[in-house]
Amino acid sequence: MRNVLVTGGCGFIGANFIRLLLASAKDWQVINLDKLTYAGNPENLDDVADDSRYTFVHGDICDRELVESLFIGQAIDTVVHFAAESHVDRSIEGPDAFMRTNIHGTFTLLEVAKNSWSVVGKRKNPYRFLHVSTDEVFGSLGPTGYFTEETAYDPRSPYSASKAASDHLARAYFHTYGLPLLITHCSNNYGPYQFPEKLIPLMINNCLQGKPLPVYGDGANVRDWLYVEDHCEAIVRVLDQGRPGESYAIGGHNEKKNTEIVELLCDMIDRKVGPLPSGNPRRSLITYVRDRPGHDRRYAIDAGKIERELGWTPRFTFAEGIERTVDWYLAHGDWLQGVLNGTYQQYYQKMYSDRQGAAETP
Ligand code: NAD
Ligand code: DAU
Repeated sequence: MRNVLVTGGCGFIGANFIRLLLASAKDWQVINLDKLTYAGNPENLDDVADDSRYTFVHGDICDRELVESLFIGQAIDTVVHFAAESHVDRSIEGPDAFMRTNIHGTFTLLEVAKNSWSVVGKRKNPYRFLHVSTDEVFGSLGPTGYFTEETAYDPRSPYSASKAASDHLARAYFHTYGLPLLITHCSNNYGPYQFPEKLIPLMINNCLQGKPLPVYGDGANVRDWLYVEDHCEAIVRVLDQGRPGESYAIGGHNEKKNTEIVELLCDMIDRKVGPLPSGNPRRSLITYVRDRPGHDRRYAIDAGKIERELGWTPRFTFAEGIERTVDWYLAHGDWLQGVLNGTYQQYYQKMYSDRQGAAETP
């Protein structure tokens, strides 16, 4: 029996993770602490809201009193820390919230965990603090090579710099106080419930609405795509079997150029719902726009350590994962409309009218 504090559980990966935990045979109590920013949606967990093993707490990870009261009141022995400002473009436009939540919020959780668990001098205890990091802390790869757990840090956006800072804090709490810390670095996730500001759901939504598909720069940037369910299974594996003080790189072995993804989505959606009302295929919507400042060229993960040491491998090929994802968005038009509220529309208009100016062609 574990009492797990999941932070950011109303976001994309957190909601998928909580659903997976509750569906598994584990008798774990899940306490979900989420501030409900624009990216957090309690409806993402409507189907488990009445489960007696699940409690939702609306609050901020920077609120130390609240975090302390949860640790004591709920006898928290495990933390899975997802809560973050997660979108690179937003970090370029307005980095403040990233520094507050990603750095100070992580510090608050570490400090409360350290004090509540009184771990100084003890290395063998059942506590676990899993800090969910990203491969972006390692910077940008050239055409060859992979990120591993040993890759030197080289963050290049305000988002990735804030995540790197939180990783360093987390490691310091392991080395200095013996906090039983685990870190995961995963590549780009995709799947159900992802907010439509990220590449794949944004393109699906624009395809369905017949809006331009804004590809940054020359469209040849590469990401290593990981189906969210595979990522969540990897996190459970790290919680169960990972060694405190270690980090684990998690990737899907699915390197794709952005243009490949966008073209694939256009063709798949044409096939599933028919072409645009004009009769044109959706590829006609592809529009090359001004590049993201500091745009990392390529990410790719060597997941050899978690495969060898913990026996995890991804179950979904990209073809399977993307088909499931598109089908999920097609079947959940109400969810999509719900999150595309006024605030999102304003963000979208500003972001993309700014980019239209100096479009590049591949
Ligand atoms: P998301 O943006 O979809 O969700 C973030 C959640 O955190 C939201 O529910 C939001 O309300 C909550 N939150 C934000 N600030 C908070 C605060 N101060 N207190 C409490 N809750 C707060 O993010 P995601 O894509 O699910 O990412 C989850 C984690 O995984 C993040 O730490 C991110 O850096 C990391 N990650 C994501 C990806 C990816 O591809 N999405 C890849 C690698 C790592
Ligand atoms: O690698 C892990 C990271 O993946 C996570 O840490 C981040 O939280 C997550 O947001 C994601 O970051 P990216 O910047 O890689 O994801 P995004 O979906 O924003 O962009 C993916 C690629 O697509 C990137 O090369 C930029 C490009 N892009 C994105 C958008 C939104 C476009 O060309 N057009 C777009 O409209």
